[in-house]
Amino acid sequence: MAKEYVIEAKGLKKSYGSNQVLKGVDLKVERGTMLALLGPNGAGKTTTVRILSTLLSFDGGKVSVEGYDVVKEADKVRSVIGLTGQSAAVDELLTGRENLVMMGRLYRLTKRSAVARAEELLKEFGLEKAADRPAKTYSGGMRRRLDLAVSLIATPPIIFLDEPTTGLDPRSRLAMWAIIKKLMENGTTILLTTQYLEEADQLADNIVVIDGGKVIAEGSAAQLKGKVGKDRLELQFAGEKQFAEAVKALGKDVADKNEKDLSVTTIIKNTSADVRKTLDVLAKQKIEFESMTIHKPTLDDVFLSLTGKQAKKPAEKKKGKK
Ligand SMILES: Nc1ncnc2c1ncn2[C@@H]1O[C@H](COP(=O)(O)OP(=O)(O)OP(=O)(O)O)[C@@H](O)[C@H]1O
Ligand SMILES: [Mg+2]
Repeated sequence: MAKEYVIEAKGLKKSYGSNQVLKGVDLKVERGTMLALLGPNGAGKTTTVRILSTLLSFDGGKVSVEGYDVVKEADKVRSVIGLTGQSAAVDELLTGRENLVMMGRLYRLTKRSAVARAEELLKEFGLEKAADRPAKTYSGGMRRRLDLAVSLIATPPIIFLDEPTTGLDPRSRLAMWAIIKKLMENGTTILLTTQYLEEADQLADNIVVIDGGKVIAEGSAAQLKGKVGKDRLELQFAGEKQFAEAVKALGKDVADKNEKDLSVTTIIKNTSADVRKTLDVLAKQKIEFESMTIHKPTLDDVFLSLTGKQAKKPAEKKKGKK
């Protein structure tokens, strides 16, 4: 069966004044899957999401959502999407419950069904206790959950999540991931932006990496890792004697060594054959090692090799930036 793409952008261009932010971006999201749009600060992620969700005009290219043109059929597009993220729709002065009911009314639910749906979402997102407090008293994690809940009032089949976990502590991030995974199980098509490779790795079916307004790589996490990565075998020795003997015995195969840790790393292309070969060399010369670890390439390695920049680690990001 031919693949069905629910979100499609072709040759998308956008400038702010003389600053060309998107220089021809192509992306497609298959029905019922998640695409992660990955890129550093200022790469154009929010700009792309705002265009796809009809909130922002663009200069060139073609964009459709569920077959509807985002310019000519913006109303139809809006009826099938939910949007959450950096341009939050939550009203600070209203309580969580009031926010949900209000949004339900905006989506033309009856009063009774808006109230019922709000109750359901408050429960699902663990916000029952805080339901009747103004949103301004919520913690960052609660805010994000309310923000996502608000965008799900009308159970849209397609949702855009713009950096849903940026600035959250690890526990709240896991809670958010669980909610997102549940949406995916229900068949929702999702476009998520993130600066965290780990997040894309954990959640997404496909990844598009943008930098400098262009797509610089795309594929599944495994495909992207396969592009750069070779596995590495790290051997740890108990003493300096064994370490020195191993370095000598392995000769050219040593890719890296650390005299302090007494560890030696070799590159492996074919896991079982190369690991056996290395261990055979040591066994033949009766060199004992203490432990061994196989390191798989990570998306961080991919990102570094593509952009020349180190990816952000969640902990490095300042809390409460957004
Ligand atoms: N309204 C605007 N007017 C002028 N320039 C803008 C505007 N919005 C965004 N930009 C610029 O466009 C570029 C891309 O911004 P965008 O917000 O899309 O990046 P991003 O990938 O979402 O970054 P972040 O990870 O920080 O959210 C940046 O250089 C930004 O300064
Ligand atoms: Mg952004």
